Amino acid sequence: MPRLTIDNQTIEVAKGTKVIQAAEQLGIYIPRFCYHEALGSAGACRMCAVMFLEGHVKGLNMSCMIEAADGMVVSTDHPEAQRFRSRVIEWLMLNHPHDCPVCDEGGHCLLQDMTISGGHGIRRYDGLKRTFHDQDLGPLVAHEMNRCIRCWRCRRFYQDHAGCYDLGALQIGRRTYFGRQKNGRLQSPFAGNLIDLCPTGVFTDKPSRYQGRYWDFQRADSVCPHCSLGCAVTVNARYRQVVRLEARPEPEVNGHFICDRGRYGFGFANHSMRPRRARVDGKETDVQQALSQAAERLREISVEYGPSSVAALGSCRMSLEGQVALERLCQEQGWSGARFFLEPDLALRVQAAVRGLEPNLAASAAGLAKADFVLTVGVAPLAEAPMLALLMRQAWRNGAMVACLDPRPLNLPFPANHLPLACGLLDIGLPWLIKQSFWAKKRKQLEESYSQLFAPAREEVLQKKELRELKKIARALAKSQRPVLVCGTDFAPQELPDMAVGLVRLLREQGKEAGLSFILPGANAFGAVLTAPHEARTGNLLEAMEQDEVKALLLAESDPLFNYPDRSRLERALDRLRLLVVLDHLPTPTALKAKVFIPTTNLYESPGASLVNQEGRLQRAHPACQVGEPLSQVNHGSHPPRRFPSATPGGKPRPSFELLDELARQLSSSSGQPSRASGWEWLAQRQPSLAEAFSQGVPKYGHLLLPALPARREISEQAVAAPVGPQEIELIVNPAFLPGEEMACYSPVLDEVAGESALWLHQKTAEELGLDPKGSVRLDLGQGELVLPVRACQDIHLRTAVLVYGVDTPWQQIRGRREILPLSAFQAGSEA
Ligand code: SF4
Ligand code: FES
Repeated sequence: MPRLTIDNQTIEVAKGTKVIQAAEQLGIYIPRFCYHEALGSAGACRMCAVMFLEGHVKGLNMSCMIEAADGMVVSTDHPEAQRFRSRVIEWLMLNHPHDCPVCDEGGHCLLQDMTISGGHGIRRYDGLKRTFHDQDLGPLVAHEMNRCIRCWRCRRFYQDHAGCYDLGALQIGRRTYFGRQKNGRLQSPFAGNLIDLCPTGVFTDKPSRYQGRYWDFQRADSVCPHCSLGCAVTVNARYRQVVRLEARPEPEVNGHFICDRGRYGFGFANHSMRPRRARVDGKETDVQQALSQAAERLREISVEYGPSSVAALGSCRMSLEGQVALERLCQEQGWSGARFFLEPDLALRVQAAVRGLEPNLAASAAGLAKADFVLTVGVAPLAEAPMLALLMRQAWRNGAMVACLDPRPLNLPFPANHLPLACGLLDIGLPWLIKQSFWAKKRKQLEESYSQLFAPAREEVLQKKELRELKKIARALAKSQRPVLVCGTDFAPQELPDMAVGLVRLLREQGKEAGLSFILPGANAFGAVLTAPHEARTGNLLEAMEQDEVKALLLAESDPLFNYPDRSRLERALDRLRLLVVLDHLPTPTALKAKVFIPTTNLYESPGASLVNQEGRLQRAHPACQVGEPLSQVNHGSHPPRRFPSATPGGKPRPSFELLDELARQLSSSSGQPSRASGWEWLAQRQPSLAEAFSQGVPKYGHLLLPALPARREISEQAVAAPVGPQEIELIVNPAFLPGEEMACYSPVLDEVAGESALWLHQKTAEELGLDPKGSVRLDLGQGELVLPVRACQDIHLRTAVLVYGVDTPWQQIRGRREILPLSAFQAGSEA
């Protein structure tokens, strides 16, 4: 390990460490523009010059380009280095438009900081400035090329890191231009990161343009709620309105970046239709009144029909605090336990995943990027967990083979080995592949020792071509030392999560440092299992509603009408209820049906909102703004306000956990229950494995990796998927990447960039069905028809069709997210 001295301090660093990094380890910040921890060095800006006094490098040199070596003596504040850096700043500012007063980067601009700290206060150059025309890069990212200092961060991120090529470096030398061939929306799903990366104001956030400067904002550390990865973000709010989100570096989760869904999906918080007032029987009232009414009516029904006639449904977008409060309320009142999934099979898969994911098996996002082999099964990364695609690309760039078993077209930002296996074959292909990665002699032995994983002769249903591909992937797995398996839960076969746990354990026992990652359906699906580990035993809620066993339903931050595939069945069941109580902050169709509605705060306002990501990492979101109608929505947006009400308009919502606790108190006061422990204590008592994790308290900042729950297998009634016959096609429904998730659907800024609805088919299947690959299809879903554009491709299973839906596609006319339809259900349409 090289040992060097920087500014009279000696340090030993790992081989390959650059001098700029070694200095940082000592707490010495060397100015830089082109160097970035995630992108590495480019040597383009010359800003990190330091003086090398002793060692094999001598004189003024760039600290980002030189590796630390034994015996080096470096001075970062040598007068010559300081003078050089201040000249670099002056030279970078020659053509700068000096438009800081109107630049949104002002206040958190690296160039501004360096200009001031570098001592360049007086402009000496009085020649003409080089100027460029800016481009329209779509509704999300603004472009101001004259501010460019040619650090190349944008090009290096966009092309090298994110694998998209519609933006790059054009022209040459001092006229180098970072943009597109022509105006147009940036194509990368990670394009918003250009805003955070650009050290000056070339790429800025377009939707929040001119809405505030850095110092105007209330800023808070938060967690992205739009998928189960839980990327770290910083929220910027002003005048009771969330204005902008930035990526927050979190090495174990998202590194330095986030996806565009995460960056622009926050619009639900400021939605103009957001319900902010309580209602009882359609009439506005105050929250306290609504709570009393809810308590009274729930008690009446519970007394009249028995406690099991009251049910509660939460969601995976709720905070852990809210989930715990809901489950606790159900337990205390003797209602059937809280549910967080309306589809029992999905609940089973998520439970199997969470229960099997021991921390020693779990691969963090950082671990995934360092893997030397990545295999995904039943996951569409961009739709289900977008940052997964970016992390997989980093593994691929480092030389790992990335293989995907999934029937859908995946559209990844790098060339993966995609084998489009049918859904029902995923749990056959996966163990066969793992088995093939061992020597023939060993396979026999494994088959005997792990008979539950390797059911004999199941692979006969795989075709020759599929077996060939699987063998190729198995050979790469055999050579790997740090493989990671990423397994989906959304539509995978029922047995897959358990099987994935078993296979990763097997790989570990055979000497590999294998890791496992599950992608779960929602930001806090993990929390839902921690809270209600017995959910799978509470029975089918929808059937109970249909059979009038459930008379009252309490919905907490849950909109089953958005999520459940068979909408008309669900609507009929909801209409049978005697009482529907809804607590939410979204303007959902379910909330409109509520007899009692109580508004809640959202993640950006709640004091105490924790989410547990798919790895079991508990993270806290801190409140960034005060609850209340944004100033832009009261007084017709006039500022300063013309009226000064004594109370904050729309300031009544409270966090769901507080409301549920209050409801519990009101319901219990009549039955005289004793005072209650805190939610954390209650959870720790119920889950002894969590007691130790919580013993030091839940960290306010940072995160806590939670231990696994005791493993237990719940038996599914529908464990075996029905095979797809020759005259049938399996239809899978999938949201488009944007908005792609429930809360993001309420973000108006994403309307313009929302993905199109379409039916994806294999080229050959489209031909067989007589569909024009550029035309439209009339799809008979059994309960209704949809006319959709046809998209034909090659990387989809022959007997699979994928319905990619956007916000307004009425796709909920089927019985499940996977449905087997006859060929006759696909007819050529006359219009798209
Ligand atoms: Fe949010 Fe998921 Fe995107 Fe991360 S990958 S920013 S958690 S939507
Ligand atoms: Fe070293 Fe730019 S940071 S040359």
